[in-house]
Amino acid sequence: MRASLVGTGYVGIVTGACFAHSGHDVIMVDNIKEKVDAINAGRSPIYEKGLEEMISEEVRRGRLKGTTNLREAVEFSDITFICVGTPALPDGSQNLAYVKAAAEEIGAAIEEKDIFHTVVVKSTVAPGTTLGTVKPILEQTTGKKAGEGFGLGMNPEFLKEGDALNDFLKPDRIVYGCVGEGAAKMLREIYAPFSAPVIEKDCTTAEMIKYASNSLLAARVALIDEIGNICKALGIDVRDVAAAAGMDRRIGPHFLHAGIGFGGSCFRKDVSALAWKGGELGVETPILSSVISQNDAQPLRIVQLLTSRMDVKGRRIGILGLSFKPGTDDIRDAPSIVVVRSLLEKGAKVVAYDPMAKENFSKLFPQVSYAKSASEVVASSDSVLVLTEWKEFADPSLYGNKPVFDGRGVTRTANYEGVCW
Ligand code: UGA
Repeated sequence: MRASLVGTGYVGIVTGACFAHSGHDVIMVDNIKEKVDAINAGRSPIYEKGLEEMISEEVRRGRLKGTTNLREAVEFSDITFICVGTPALPDGSQNLAYVKAAAEEIGAAIEEKDIFHTVVVKSTVAPGTTLGTVKPILEQTTGKKAGEGFGLGMNPEFLKEGDALNDFLKPDRIVYGCVGEGAAKMLREIYAPFSAPVIEKDCTTAEMIKYASNSLLAARVALIDEIGNICKALGIDVRDVAAAAGMDRRIGPHFLHAGIGFGGSCFRKDVSALAWKGGELGVETPILSSVISQNDAQPLRIVQLLTSRMDVKGRRIGILGLSFKPGTDDIRDAPSIVVVRSLLEKGAKVVAYDPMAKENFSKLFPQVSYAKSASEVVASSDSVLVLTEWKEFADPSLYGNKPVFDGRGVTRTANYEGVCW
C-alpha cells in the first residue's frame, strides 16, 4: 500500500519506518526541513533503538522518503495518518491545534483528488475527538461526507520508548475504529503483514482503549508505589510483596516495580486528559486524580529518605540516572527533575551522570555538574541517589561503602537503602 504520515515525531517516524519495513511504500511529511532531510539521508530524527538502521535500509530500498509537501504526499498515497503532537494544556485538556491544522491541509489536498482517500488519526486524542473535531474539519474542507467521499479512521499506538520497533512489529493487539467500509478495508490491508488480534470498532471506542490502557498502567504503578511506601514504614520489601501478589494470574507480574514513580510524556498527560474528559461529561474521576497526585509526590520520597539521614545543605549529592527510564534520552516528566529541583532548593550541590540524557537535562539544569561516568559521581559525592535503572548502575562494587539511596531497585550495596524496601 502507499501510505503518508504527517508528523515525524516519535509515533510518526516509528510507524512510517515499520510500515516501510513490512513492505508498504511510505512518505513522511514534516514542515521542519531538517527532519525531512535527515530521513532522506537515512538518518533518524529521534533516538530509538534500531530505528536509524531501519530508516537507512528502507530509504536505500526506496520504500521510505520524506517531504515537506503535504499535498504531494496525499496525492502519492491511498491513506494518510495524522501523527502530530497533542500537548497538554494547563487544565489537563489537549492542545488540538496541530491536529486541526493537519486535518485542514489534508482535507484541502483530498478535495483535489478523484481517487478515494482515507485519513486516520494516530495522534493520542481524547475520546470523541475524531468524530467531534477531525470529521467536521475534513467534511468542510473536502466538501464530501466521511464514509462516502473519503474514509476516516482512528488507530491508537501502544509503543514503549526503548522497545518501540518490537512493539510495532509484534504488537499485543491492533486497534482501530472506522467510519465506513472504505477506511476499514484500507486499515485491514495496511496491517495485513502483522500477526496480532485485530480490534475493529468505532473511532470513540478506539480512542478510549488507548486512554484506558495508559490509565490502567499508570494506576497500577501509582498503587504499587503507595503499597511500597507502607512496606517501607513496616520495614519490609515491596519487591517480595509484589512478586507474590503478581503470581495470582488475575494480577500478573508486569508493571509492579515500585520506586520513585512513573515519568515520560504519556502517562501523566493521558490520565489528566481522561480526568478532564470525565469532568466535561459530568463524570467524577477521583481515582484518576489520585493517580496524578500520588505520582507527583512519589519522587520526593527519596529526598525525604536522604534528608532524614543527613543535612544536604552544602553537601555533594550524586545522581545516577536522569532519563525517565533506561534506553532513552527522554527526560519529559522524569522523576529526576523533581528530585534534582528539590535538592538544589535545599542547598545541595548536585553531580549527575546518565549515559544518554545529559544533554537534555543540562538545558533544564545548567547549574548541575555533569560527570563522565558513574564512578566519577560516586567518587565525588557524599551520598548517591539512583533514579533510573540503567544496567551499568547494578554492579555493587561501583559504590564501595558510599551511602546509596536506590529509587528503582537497581542494586544492593554495603551501605544501602531503597525507597520502598
Ligand atoms: C507508555 C506505555 O507503556 C505504552 O504502551 C504507550 O504506548 C506509551 O506510554 C504512550 O502512550 O506513548 P512509555 O511511556 O514509553 O510507554 O514507558 P513505560 O515503559 O510504560 O514506562 C513509563 C514509566 O513508568 C517509566 O518512568 C517507568 O520507570 C515507570 N514504571 C513502569 C514503573 O515505575 N514501574 C513499573 O512497574 C513500570
